[in-house]
Amino acid sequence: MSEQDIFIRQEDFDRLEQAIQDYQEGRIDHNSLVAERLMLGTYGQWQEGLCMVRSKLPGGRVRPRQLLGYAEGLENITCLENVHITTRQDIQYNNVPLEETPALLRLLAKHGITSREACGNTVRNVSGCPMAGFCPREHVDVMPHIDATARYLIRNPLTQSLPRKFKISYSGCEADCAQGAIQDLGIVATRKEGREGFKLLAGGGLGPHARQAVVLEEFIEEEALLPAIEAVLALHDKYSDRARRSRSRIKFLVERFGVDEFVRKFREEYARTSAAFDNARAPRGEWRQAREDALVCGHGAPRQVMPQHQPGLYAVPIDVPGGDLTAQQLRGLCALLEREGHSELRATQDQNFIVFNVPEAGIEPLADGLKELGLGLPRAGTNVVACPGTRTCQLGITSSRTVAKMLDGGSHDLTIRVNGCQNTCAHSEIADIGFFGKGKRHFGKLIPSYAIRLGGSGLAGGAFGFPGPDIPAARVPMAVKRIQEAFEEGRAEDESFFSWSRRQGAGYFEELLADLTQVREFELSMLQRDHGESAVFRVQSSGVGECAGAHTDPLDKLLLDIAYERNLRDAFAAKSKYKDAAESLANVFALAGQALLIAAGAEDTTPDESELAQALAEALPDDNEVAEGFAGLYEQFADWRTGLDELVYPGLVEKADAWLKSARLLCRTLQARRKEQERKKSAQEVA
Ligand code: HEM
Ligand code: SF4
Repeated sequence: MSEQDIFIRQEDFDRLEQAIQDYQEGRIDHNSLVAERLMLGTYGQWQEGLCMVRSKLPGGRVRPRQLLGYAEGLENITCLENVHITTRQDIQYNNVPLEETPALLRLLAKHGITSREACGNTVRNVSGCPMAGFCPREHVDVMPHIDATARYLIRNPLTQSLPRKFKISYSGCEADCAQGAIQDLGIVATRKEGREGFKLLAGGGLGPHARQAVVLEEFIEEEALLPAIEAVLALHDKYSDRARRSRSRIKFLVERFGVDEFVRKFREEYARTSAAFDNARAPRGEWRQAREDALVCGHGAPRQVMPQHQPGLYAVPIDVPGGDLTAQQLRGLCALLEREGHSELRATQDQNFIVFNVPEAGIEPLADGLKELGLGLPRAGTNVVACPGTRTCQLGITSSRTVAKMLDGGSHDLTIRVNGCQNTCAHSEIADIGFFGKGKRHFGKLIPSYAIRLGGSGLAGGAFGFPGPDIPAARVPMAVKRIQEAFEEGRAEDESFFSWSRRQGAGYFEELLADLTQVREFELSMLQRDHGESAVFRVQSSGVGECAGAHTDPLDKLLLDIAYERNLRDAFAAKSKYKDAAESLANVFALAGQALLIAAGAEDTTPDESELAQALAEALPDDNEVAEGFAGLYEQFADWRTGLDELVYPGLVEKADAWLKSARLLCRTLQARRKEQERKKSAQEVA
């Protein structure tokens, strides 16, 4: 299957269009619509009828010509102003009217841009070192691994309805510029005793239960990568709590099992996924001699022109103010890059771009061209990133983007990350100075405020920031200025903010900012409005959002499980592992039986294997072809179960698959009947 086929399929857009129409005409409920659109990277905003549409760029890679596609999107859809680069190296639109989302997705698809599985409970964009393929420090260019991972997992039945989202990053060396510490799975290229491979980190994440990833494996071989990733996903699928989605990430599994047991379970799962894995699919990179003395590019993106490992060529970061680009800027940037002969462009985790293979003489013309577009090379002080906050996010409490525009990281280019709520989508825990929004009462009045985190770093050897005091939103610019000045005065030569802030400790900052935290009654009127707002502050967050994804019908989940187990069965058989294939086939039967029993509304949906045929016969009195078909098939299977070989297997599987097809059809028919009954019932209740 070509890459295009996997990432982009027209039928996706037809389905979304149909779902929107069905929803508007009352044939499906809101949850079913949400499930369809999240799968295609489309979130609801708090503004009724408007959506955020996120395109997915593995490793942040975007071709200059594709910028024209993004521009066309802005020009063709009603009232859009700009696109936005995200902290996972994606590019997204805001304020897209729901009815126009299929048109936008079709338009992007024409330019080879996908949004498939950019949101919802799936594997999110695989992010990576911004310098992958060009960094002098790297052991290997991880781009082929990123691409292979994205291709392996997209539309994979295992990843279509995970308990929650799943984030993966790749770094080319131990410095870990892609910040594996905050990912569900961080993958870091390394060498051990002369062998080439990867270190695996797992269970990192930000937000209210921020946790740094732990080491899952110190070293795995290159060809073990994809089955290892699959094994972690299988753990997530099997053990994460589907009922409590807010506690359904890998970090909670690490917490629940403890590191040792988590690792043991991973290895158990890996034994199965690796046994089925076709090694021909393993990505193989070109390993090089890493230059440990070369510059580390830093938190998710370099802030200065960097020499590449290709002699005489440079990587040039492009500062994109606020991460936003208009159609005119997109077109201008494409023209500039083409004029200068550059084809390698990437979105970076600090909401900027980076362009590669620029010869020394080409840096100045590039910088001049960027300036004309309102872009430029990064200037010290502008390392400020904000999440959408109340501008568009359903969970936003404060106006993070507006205050971020007023902040400056000073001559030492401090990393400042501003978030509209405690979910910290813009990474406050790994910033020099991080903020997240909250409402705080003073004299009975709610004041828009920010909690502070200080001295964080997501790089190897880093740590999450420690808490500082809460500050009213109006005083955030003052707080930043004061911290910055104190740093400039107090730092030892060449000392980083990370080291200086930790040397000072939390008490120092409490004192430094003490007057900014105190609110006197007469100041209330000045502090009660958030930046850019004329109305008095109140928390408008719905508190729910769509980040936990849509509810999945258990029957749909079972059908996905069957598809995944069938894939395993075929993979085992392809490697002549008939004993494993037989176990997978038994699992397929059990899952299909369960699906049929659920669809038929049976009370006991998980009978013992030996009683399944009888249970189906009782539950499906009107559809006895399927029940009888199963009984006959299972009898044959039981006879051959331990003696399957290449002679018997194909015939048995052919019959099994024919039966599965009719079982699936029956499930869908019964499911549709049930949904129709439910719809009629709720319509009657409303009437
Ligand atoms: C409980 C709910 C949510 C949690 C825990 C959450 C968490 C996160 C985290 C940790 C990130 C940054 C990490 C990364 O991308 O690797 C992120 C990114 C992002 N999230 Fe959320 N999120 C939630 C809900 C939402 C919602 C409802 C929206 C708004 C529609 C949203 C919008 C974004 C955006 C736009 C980014 C990329 C940030 C940027 O670069 O602009 N998130 N989210
Ligand atoms: S941090 Fe909060 S306000 Fe900001 S995008 Fe994430 S969920 Fe929304």
